[in-house]
Amino acid sequence: IDILSQVAQVDVNTGLSAAELVKIIPDYDALMIRSGTQVTKEIIEAGNLLKIIGRAGVGVDNVDVPAATRKGIVVVNSPEGNTIAAAEHAIAMMLSMSRHIPEANASVKSGKWERNRFIGVEVYKKTLGIVGLGKIGSHLAAAAKAMGMKLLAYDPFISTERAEQLGCRLVELELLMRESDYITLHIPKTPETLHLINAEVLSKMKPTARIINCARGGIIDEVALAEAIKSGQIAGAAIDVYEHEPLEADSPLRSVGQNIVLTPHLGASTAEAQVNVAIDVAEQIRDVLLGLPARSAVNIPGIYPDSIEKLKPYLQLAETLGNLVSQLAGGRVDY
Ligand code: NAD
Ligand code: MLT
Repeated sequence: IDILSQVAQVDVNTGLSAAELVKIIPDYDALMIRSGTQVTKEIIEAGNLLKIIGRAGVGVDNVDVPAATRKGIVVVNSPEGNTIAAAEHAIAMMLSMSRHIPEANASVKSGKWERNRFIGVEVYKKTLGIVGLGKIGSHLAAAAKAMGMKLLAYDPFISTERAEQLGCRLVELELLMRESDYITLHIPKTPETLHLINAEVLSKMKPTARIINCARGGIIDEVALAEAIKSGQIAGAAIDVYEHEPLEADSPLRSVGQNIVLTPHLGASTAEAQVNVAIDVAEQIRDVLLGLPARSAVNIPGIYPDSIEKLKPYLQLAETLGNLVSQLAGGRVDY
């Protein structure tokens, strides 16, 4: 708020319905949100003064980015502010699940002392399959390696060399699902990744294997996951993100029992990450309102708004050339 107050009047409005947001948005030059607000086409179209939408976090799947782009609205995020928090949450989920920490904690607090009920498993020398070797996946790889885990990774967009630098063997998804003892997802939610982990893919996992999703709800088919754990097809899961948030009262995940650990989208919820993403996005909103470029725009390159008009035809040419080259050239990009 201090940063934004240098250039604008700041109103803090939380818990608005979509209809309320549509009603008030015409008065605003900028909108700042976390993951709980869906910025739909209707909201964007009503935002006649809107110049920028700031997402205090990584995922922009709750913003209709194409609609914003069509209206000339810059969408910015904080690509790195919560990387460490999310990677550490995935590690915490893996260890909690392996050592039954949530159930053991509840048991002791209820007055019991059940040492034999909570025999866990070690992660040392186990194989961890990382789906998505980007910022969070890479940080997690380093931490898991330090714990003595063997690493596999599936990411069609990174080079074998990069994976090797991180101590990972780059493999196809099917092999990763078959060979891993733990599988952790760190990919964006896109039309290609929706239900990427479905009943058929889950059926490739070992019966002793466990899966972690601290990326986005909807990447795993929740009905298929609940069924796979209940039937003993896989050993367990730890889930932070859900297809519909808040998680519905009758979600099949709630009735799986002790072989699932559920947290309410806490990946980025550390004191440090909240400050990082807030500063990152507030500074970008301030800059754009001052006519300066945004450093982490997801729909417009980081160049001065005045130059964008002149560069537009070249940007379109470069995008078309890129699309053509990606179809002509086989394999991965080396860098
Ligand atoms: P990133 O962009 O740095 O990395 C994503 C990686 O996924 C990239 O390397 C990309 O090549 C890869 N990828 C894309 N499509 C793929 C596909 N179809 N198959 C396999 N790999 C694919 O992103 P990040 O910062 O590491 O974030 C990863 C995810 O974590 C995002 O979905 C983000 O929204 C989510 N996230 C969640 C929380 C939380 O609170 N739980 C916090 C931060 C980030
Ligand atoms: C993100 O994408 O950054 C996370 O989902 C964190 C959040 O905004 O809650």
